[in-house]
Amino acid sequence: MTLKVAVVGLGGIGNRHCQVYTDHPDAEVIAVCDILHDRADKAAERWNAKAFYSVQEMLDAGLPIDSASVCSAGVENGGDHYKPTMELLGAGIPVLGEKPISNRIHEAEEMVALAKEKGLRYGIDLNHRFTPAALRAKEWVESGRLGELNIVNMTMWINNPNESSPWFHIRALHPHSLDVMRYFCGDVDKVQAFFKKGAGRKIWSNVQVNLQFKSGVVGHLTGSYDAGGSYGLETLEVVGSEARFVLLDACEHLTFYPRRSQETETYDYIGGMMSFGETFHSRIGRWIEQSIEGVKPEEIDASGEDALKVQRIIEATIRSWENGTIESA
Ligand SMILES: NC(=O)c1ccc[n+]([C@@H]2O[C@H](COP(=O)([O-])OP(=O)(O)OC[C@H]3O[C@@H](n4cnc5c(N)ncnc54)[C@H](O)[C@@H]3O)[C@@H](O)[C@H]2O)c1
Repeated sequence: MTLKVAVVGLGGIGNRHCQVYTDHPDAEVIAVCDILHDRADKAAERWNAKAFYSVQEMLDAGLPIDSASVCSAGVENGGDHYKPTMELLGAGIPVLGEKPISNRIHEAEEMVALAKEKGLRYGIDLNHRFTPAALRAKEWVESGRLGELNIVNMTMWINNPNESSPWFHIRALHPHSLDVMRYFCGDVDKVQAFFKKGAGRKIWSNVQVNLQFKSGVVGHLTGSYDAGGSYGLETLEVVGSEARFVLLDACEHLTFYPRRSQETETYDYIGGMMSFGETFHSRIGRWIEQSIEGVKPEEIDASGEDALKVQRIIEATIRSWENGTIESA
Protein backbone atom coordinates (compact mmCIF):
# COMPACT_ATOMS: atom_id res chain seq x y z
CA MET A 1 0.00 0.00 0.00
CA THR A 2 1.12 3.55 -0.69
CA LEU A 3 0.00 6.06 1.93
CA LYS A 4 -1.62 9.02 0.15
CA VAL A 5 -0.82 12.12 2.13
CA ALA A 6 -1.93 15.75 2.35
CA VAL A 7 0.37 18.35 3.90
CA VAL A 8 -1.22 21.45 5.44
CA GLY A 9 0.99 24.49 6.09
CA LEU A 10 3.87 24.86 3.64
CA GLY A 11 6.54 26.77 5.51
CA GLY A 12 9.99 25.26 5.99
CA ILE A 13 8.65 22.41 8.11
CA GLY A 14 5.70 21.51 5.85
CA ASN A 15 8.10 21.30 2.92
CA ARG A 16 10.34 19.11 5.03
CA HIS A 17 7.43 16.74 5.66
CA CYS A 18 6.80 16.70 1.89
CA GLN A 19 10.44 15.82 1.28
CA VAL A 20 10.29 12.91 3.75
CA TYR A 21 7.06 11.50 2.26
CA THR A 22 8.44 11.89 -1.27
CA ASP A 23 11.67 10.07 -0.34
CA HIS A 24 9.74 7.23 1.30
CA PRO A 25 8.90 4.21 -0.89
CA ASP A 26 5.50 3.72 0.81
CA ALA A 27 4.17 7.30 0.76
CA GLU A 28 3.10 9.90 -1.77
CA VAL A 29 2.06 13.55 -1.34
CA ILE A 30 -1.16 14.05 -3.30
CA ALA A 31 -2.34 17.40 -1.87
CA VAL A 32 -0.77 20.49 -0.34
CA CYS A 33 -2.75 23.22 1.39
CA ASP A 34 -1.81 26.69 2.59
CA ILE A 35 -3.93 29.79 3.12
CA LEU A 36 -1.04 31.67 1.48
CA HIS A 37 -1.69 30.86 -2.18
CA ASP A 38 1.88 31.31 -3.35
CA ARG A 39 3.14 28.81 -0.75
CA ALA A 40 0.54 26.23 -1.77
CA ASP A 41 1.22 26.77 -5.49
CA LYS A 42 4.98 26.56 -5.10
CA ALA A 43 4.74 23.37 -3.03
CA ALA A 44 2.29 21.82 -5.50
CA GLU A 45 4.79 22.33 -8.28
CA ARG A 46 7.75 21.15 -6.23
CA TRP A 47 6.07 17.99 -4.88
CA ASN A 48 3.87 17.20 -7.84
CA ALA A 49 0.66 17.48 -5.83
CA LYS A 50 -2.63 19.38 -6.10
CA ALA A 51 -2.78 22.83 -4.44
CA PHE A 52 -5.56 23.96 -2.11
CA TYR A 53 -6.04 27.21 -0.20
CA SER A 54 -8.19 25.89 2.65
CA VAL A 55 -8.70 22.51 4.30
CA GLN A 56 -12.42 22.66 3.56
CA GLU A 57 -11.77 23.17 -0.16
CA MET A 58 -9.35 20.23 -0.08
CA LEU A 59 -11.90 18.00 1.68
CA ASP A 60 -14.62 19.02 -0.80
CA ALA A 61 -12.43 17.85 -3.69
CA GLY A 62 -12.88 14.27 -2.42
CA LEU A 63 -9.31 13.07 -2.97
CA PRO A 64 -8.46 9.67 -1.43
CA ILE A 65 -6.38 11.13 1.43
CA ASP A 66 -5.20 8.45 3.90
CA SER A 67 -3.35 10.77 6.28
CA ALA A 68 -2.46 14.46 6.72
CA SER A 69 0.47 16.35 8.22
CA VAL A 70 -0.52 19.59 9.93
CA CYS A 71 2.48 21.94 9.80
CA SER A 72 0.86 25.28 10.60
CA ALA A 73 2.50 27.43 13.29
CA GLY A 74 0.94 30.55 14.90
CA VAL A 75 1.27 31.94 18.42
CA GLU A 76 4.14 30.20 20.26
CA ASN A 77 4.51 28.00 17.16
CA GLY A 78 1.32 26.05 17.89
CA GLY A 79 -1.57 28.54 17.91
CA ASP A 80 -2.81 27.68 14.40
CA HIS A 81 -2.89 23.88 14.61
CA TYR A 82 -6.38 23.62 16.12
CA LYS A 83 -8.54 24.66 13.14
CA PRO A 84 -7.01 22.48 10.38
CA THR A 85 -6.61 19.54 12.78
CA MET A 86 -10.26 19.65 13.87
CA GLU A 87 -11.39 19.95 10.23
CA LEU A 88 -9.30 16.94 9.17
CA LEU A 89 -10.19 14.74 12.13
CA GLY A 90 -13.82 15.79 11.74
CA ALA A 91 -13.69 14.47 8.17
CA GLY A 92 -12.23 11.15 9.35
CA ILE A 93 -8.60 11.76 8.29
CA PRO A 94 -5.77 10.67 10.65
CA VAL A 95 -3.38 13.52 11.51
CA LEU A 96 0.33 13.80 12.23
CA GLY A 97 0.61 17.28 13.76
CA GLU A 98 3.58 19.48 14.48
CA LYS A 99 4.60 20.38 17.99
CA PRO A 100 3.51 21.97 20.25
CA ILE A 101 0.09 20.32 19.88
CA SER A 102 -1.33 23.59 21.28
CA ASN A 103 -0.45 25.90 24.11
CA ARG A 104 -4.14 26.37 24.78
CA ILE A 105 -4.79 23.25 26.83
CA HIS A 106 -8.55 23.18 26.14
CA GLU A 107 -7.82 23.11 22.38
CA ALA A 108 -5.30 20.29 22.79
CA GLU A 109 -7.88 18.38 24.85
CA GLU A 110 -10.54 18.88 22.16
CA MET A 111 -8.25 17.60 19.39
CA VAL A 112 -7.27 14.52 21.40
CA ALA A 113 -10.93 13.91 22.32
CA LEU A 114 -12.13 14.20 18.71
CA ALA A 115 -9.49 11.73 17.49
CA LYS A 116 -10.58 9.32 20.24
CA GLU A 117 -14.29 9.76 19.47
CA LYS A 118 -13.65 9.11 15.77
CA GLY A 119 -11.25 6.21 16.45
CA LEU A 120 -8.49 7.94 14.43
CA ARG A 121 -4.73 7.82 14.72
CA TYR A 122 -3.37 11.16 15.93
CA GLY A 123 0.38 11.59 16.29
CA ILE A 124 2.66 14.55 16.96
CA ASP A 125 6.11 15.21 15.52
CA LEU A 126 7.93 14.81 18.83
CA ASN A 127 10.89 13.65 16.81
CA HIS A 128 13.74 13.78 19.35
CA ARG A 129 12.92 10.34 20.72
CA PHE A 130 12.88 8.69 17.28
CA THR A 131 16.57 7.84 17.07
CA PRO A 132 18.31 4.46 16.99
CA ALA A 133 20.34 5.56 20.03
CA ALA A 134 17.22 6.38 22.07
CA LEU A 135 15.75 3.04 21.02
CA ARG A 136 18.84 1.17 22.22
CA ALA A 137 18.79 3.04 25.54
CA LYS A 138 15.08 2.26 25.90
CA GLU A 139 15.85 -1.44 25.41
CA TRP A 140 18.43 -1.21 28.22
CA VAL A 141 15.81 0.33 30.51
CA GLU A 142 13.13 -2.21 29.62
CA SER A 143 15.42 -5.22 29.95
CA GLY A 144 16.41 -4.08 33.45
CA ARG A 145 20.02 -3.29 32.51
CA LEU A 146 19.87 -0.03 34.48
CA GLY A 147 18.15 -1.64 37.49
CA GLU A 148 15.51 0.53 39.20
CA LEU A 149 15.44 4.03 37.71
CA ASN A 150 16.16 6.80 40.23
CA ILE A 151 17.13 10.00 38.42
CA VAL A 152 16.75 11.67 35.01
CA ASN A 153 18.55 14.84 33.93
CA MET A 154 17.91 16.60 30.64
CA THR A 155 19.50 19.71 29.16
CA MET A 156 18.12 21.16 25.94
CA TRP A 157 19.15 24.52 24.57
CA ILE A 158 19.52 26.45 21.35
CA ASN A 159 20.30 30.03 20.39
CA ASN A 160 16.92 31.56 19.61
CA PRO A 161 16.45 35.34 19.72
CA ASN A 162 12.65 35.16 19.17
CA GLU A 163 10.87 37.48 21.65
CA SER A 164 7.28 36.91 20.52
CA SER A 165 5.79 35.85 23.87
CA PRO A 166 6.99 35.70 27.50
CA TRP A 167 6.66 31.88 27.58
CA PHE A 168 7.86 31.18 24.05
CA HIS A 169 10.96 29.29 25.18
CA ILE A 170 9.30 26.73 27.48
CA ARG A 171 6.23 26.34 25.26
CA ALA A 172 7.92 26.05 21.87
CA LEU A 173 11.11 24.11 22.71
CA HIS A 174 10.36 21.96 25.72
CA PRO A 175 7.61 19.76 24.35
CA HIS A 176 10.67 17.93 22.94
CA SER A 177 12.76 17.61 26.12
CA LEU A 178 9.81 16.69 28.33
CA ASP A 179 8.61 14.12 25.80
CA VAL A 180 12.01 12.41 25.86
CA MET A 181 11.96 12.42 29.68
CA ARG A 182 8.46 10.87 29.69
CA TYR A 183 9.56 8.30 27.10
CA PHE A 184 12.12 6.92 29.56
CA CYS A 185 10.51 7.61 32.93
CA GLY A 186 6.73 7.74 32.41
CA ASP A 187 4.16 10.25 33.58
CA VAL A 188 5.07 13.28 35.68
CA ASP A 189 3.31 13.95 38.95
CA LYS A 190 4.71 17.25 40.30
CA VAL A 191 6.91 20.11 39.09
CA GLN A 192 8.70 23.13 40.52
CA ALA A 193 10.40 25.71 38.30
CA PHE A 194 12.58 28.81 38.32
CA PHE A 195 12.87 31.01 35.21
CA LYS A 196 15.39 33.72 34.27
CA LYS A 197 15.38 36.30 31.47
CA GLY A 198 18.65 36.32 29.52
CA ALA A 199 20.72 39.53 29.29
CA GLY A 200 18.81 42.13 27.27
CA ARG A 201 15.81 39.83 26.80
CA LYS A 202 12.14 40.39 27.52
CA ILE A 203 11.18 36.71 27.68
CA TRP A 204 11.82 33.90 30.17
CA SER A 205 14.60 32.43 28.06
CA ASN A 206 16.25 30.25 30.75
CA VAL A 207 14.63 27.67 33.01
CA GLN A 208 15.43 25.09 35.67
CA VAL A 209 12.68 22.58 36.47
CA ASN A 210 12.51 19.88 39.14
CA LEU A 211 10.18 17.00 38.37
CA GLN A 212 8.79 14.11 40.34
CA PHE A 213 7.55 11.26 38.18
CA LYS A 214 4.63 9.01 39.16
CA SER A 215 7.11 6.12 39.34
CA GLY A 216 9.02 8.01 42.05
CA VAL A 217 11.91 8.91 39.69
CA VAL A 218 13.21 12.43 40.36
CA GLY A 219 14.18 14.55 37.38
CA HIS A 220 15.66 17.85 36.35
CA LEU A 221 15.36 19.89 33.16
CA THR A 222 17.73 22.70 32.18
CA GLY A 223 16.52 24.77 29.25
CA SER A 224 17.71 27.85 27.42
CA TYR A 225 17.29 29.96 24.32
CA ASP A 226 20.55 31.73 25.24
CA ALA A 227 22.84 28.73 24.77
CA GLY A 228 23.62 26.25 22.00
CA GLY A 229 26.18 26.40 19.22
CA SER A 230 29.32 24.77 20.61
CA TYR A 231 27.31 23.88 23.77
CA GLY A 232 25.49 21.21 21.76
CA LEU A 233 21.73 20.67 21.57
CA GLU A 234 20.81 18.18 24.25
CA THR A 235 22.20 15.96 26.98
CA LEU A 236 20.12 13.21 28.56
CA GLU A 237 21.23 11.19 31.57
CA VAL A 238 19.17 8.37 33.06
CA VAL A 239 20.47 6.92 36.32
CA GLY A 240 19.42 3.55 37.72
CA SER A 241 20.46 1.39 40.66
CA GLU A 242 22.76 -0.74 38.44
CA ALA A 243 23.91 1.61 35.69
CA ARG A 244 23.33 4.91 33.98
CA PHE A 245 23.48 6.10 30.40
CA VAL A 246 24.26 9.46 28.82
CA LEU A 247 22.84 10.28 25.40
CA LEU A 248 24.30 13.31 23.64
CA ASP A 249 22.49 15.26 20.94
CA ALA A 250 19.59 12.84 20.48
CA CYS A 251 21.38 10.38 18.22
CA GLU A 252 25.11 11.13 18.26
CA HIS A 253 26.83 9.54 21.28
CA LEU A 254 25.42 7.02 23.73
CA THR A 255 27.49 5.79 26.70
CA PHE A 256 26.60 3.07 29.21
CA TYR A 257 28.21 3.31 32.66
CA PRO A 258 27.82 0.22 34.87
CA ARG A 259 27.70 1.15 38.56
CA ARG A 260 30.03 -1.56 39.81
CA SER A 261 32.62 -1.66 37.05
CA GLN A 262 34.80 0.77 35.11
CA GLU A 263 34.00 -0.94 31.81
CA THR A 264 31.94 1.61 29.88
CA GLU A 265 30.42 1.15 26.42
CA THR A 266 30.17 3.98 23.91
CA TYR A 267 28.24 3.93 20.66
CA ASP A 268 28.54 6.75 18.14
CA TYR A 269 25.99 7.52 15.42
CA ILE A 270 24.04 4.28 15.86
CA GLY A 271 22.32 3.16 12.68
CA GLY A 272 24.26 5.78 10.75
CA MET A 273 22.12 8.65 12.09
CA MET A 274 24.47 11.62 12.15
CA SER A 275 22.40 14.55 13.40
CA PHE A 276 19.07 15.68 14.82
CA GLY A 277 17.84 16.82 11.38
CA GLU A 278 17.46 13.17 10.35
CA THR A 279 14.83 12.60 13.04
CA PHE A 280 12.18 14.03 10.69
CA HIS A 281 12.77 10.96 8.53
CA SER A 282 12.71 8.49 11.40
CA ARG A 283 9.66 10.00 13.11
CA ILE A 284 7.58 10.42 9.95
CA GLY A 285 8.83 7.03 8.73
CA ARG A 286 7.40 5.47 11.90
CA TRP A 287 4.08 7.25 11.32
CA ILE A 288 3.94 5.86 7.78
CA GLU A 289 4.78 2.38 9.06
CA GLN A 290 2.17 2.46 11.84
CA SER A 291 -0.44 3.88 9.43
CA ILE A 292 0.15 1.12 6.87
CA GLU A 293 0.16 -1.55 9.58
CA GLY A 294 -3.17 -0.09 10.71
CA VAL A 295 -2.20 0.00 14.39
CA LYS A 296 -4.84 0.99 16.92
CA PRO A 297 -4.92 4.75 17.67
CA GLU A 298 -3.79 4.09 21.25
CA GLU A 299 -0.65 2.34 19.94
CA ILE A 300 0.66 5.36 18.01
CA ASP A 301 4.14 6.40 19.16
CA ALA A 302 4.28 10.03 20.35
CA SER A 303 0.51 10.38 20.20
CA GLY A 304 -1.66 13.45 20.60
CA GLU A 305 -2.29 12.28 24.14
CA ASP A 306 1.47 12.15 24.86
CA ALA A 307 1.78 15.67 23.47
CA LEU A 308 -1.12 16.90 25.63
CA LYS A 309 0.61 15.47 28.71
CA VAL A 310 3.81 17.45 28.01
CA GLN A 311 1.76 20.64 27.54
CA ARG A 312 0.22 20.05 30.97
CA ILE A 313 3.72 19.77 32.47
CA ILE A 314 4.72 23.01 30.72
CA GLU A 315 1.70 24.90 32.08
CA ALA A 316 2.48 23.54 35.56
CA THR A 317 6.05 24.95 35.34
CA ILE A 318 4.61 28.39 34.53
CA ARG A 319 2.15 28.24 37.45
CA SER A 320 4.96 27.10 39.74
CA TRP A 321 7.10 30.12 38.85
CA GLU A 322 4.21 32.60 39.00
CA ASN A 323 2.92 31.33 42.33
CA GLY A 324 6.14 30.12 43.98
CA THR A 325 4.57 26.66 44.40
CA ILE A 326 5.01 22.99 43.61
CA GLU A 327 2.36 22.17 41.01
CA SER A 328 0.64 18.99 39.83
CA ALA A 329 1.26 18.30 36.16
N1 LIG B 1 9.53 18.88 15.13
C1 LIG B 1 10.53 19.75 15.03
O1 LIG B 1 11.68 19.46 15.28
C2 LIG B 1 10.22 21.15 14.60
C3 LIG B 1 11.25 22.04 14.27
C4 LIG B 1 10.91 23.33 13.89
C5 LIG B 1 9.57 23.72 13.82
N2 LIG B 1 8.59 22.82 14.15
C6 LIG B 1 7.16 23.17 14.11
O2 LIG B 1 6.71 23.17 12.76
C7 LIG B 1 5.58 24.04 12.64
C8 LIG B 1 5.72 24.87 11.38
O3 LIG B 1 6.86 25.67 11.42
P1 LIG B 1 7.29 26.61 10.18
O4 LIG B 1 8.54 27.27 10.58
O5 LIG B 1 7.26 25.83 8.92
O6 LIG B 1 6.07 27.67 10.20
P2 LIG B 1 5.62 28.76 9.11
O7 LIG B 1 4.93 29.85 9.85
O8 LIG B 1 6.76 29.12 8.20
O9 LIG B 1 4.55 27.99 8.19
C9 LIG B 1 3.26 27.68 8.63
C10 LIG B 1 2.33 27.74 7.43
O10 LIG B 1 1.03 27.28 7.84
C11 LIG B 1 0.05 28.03 7.11
N3 LIG B 1 -1.26 27.90 7.77
C12 LIG B 1 -1.64 28.38 8.97
N4 LIG B 1 -2.91 28.05 9.23
C13 LIG B 1 -3.36 27.33 8.17
C14 LIG B 1 -4.58 26.70 7.85
N5 LIG B 1 -5.63 26.75 8.67
N6 LIG B 1 -4.68 26.05 6.67
C15 LIG B 1 -3.63 26.00 5.81
N7 LIG B 1 -2.44 26.58 6.06
C16 LIG B 1 -2.29 27.22 7.24
C17 LIG B 1 0.63 29.43 7.10
O11 LIG B 1 0.06 30.23 6.09
C18 LIG B 1 2.12 29.16 6.89
O12 LIG B 1 2.47 29.19 5.51
C19 LIG B 1 5.50 24.81 13.96
O13 LIG B 1 4.47 24.26 14.76
C20 LIG B 1 6.84 24.55 14.63
O14 LIG B 1 6.77 24.52 16.05
C21 LIG B 1 8.90 21.55 14.51
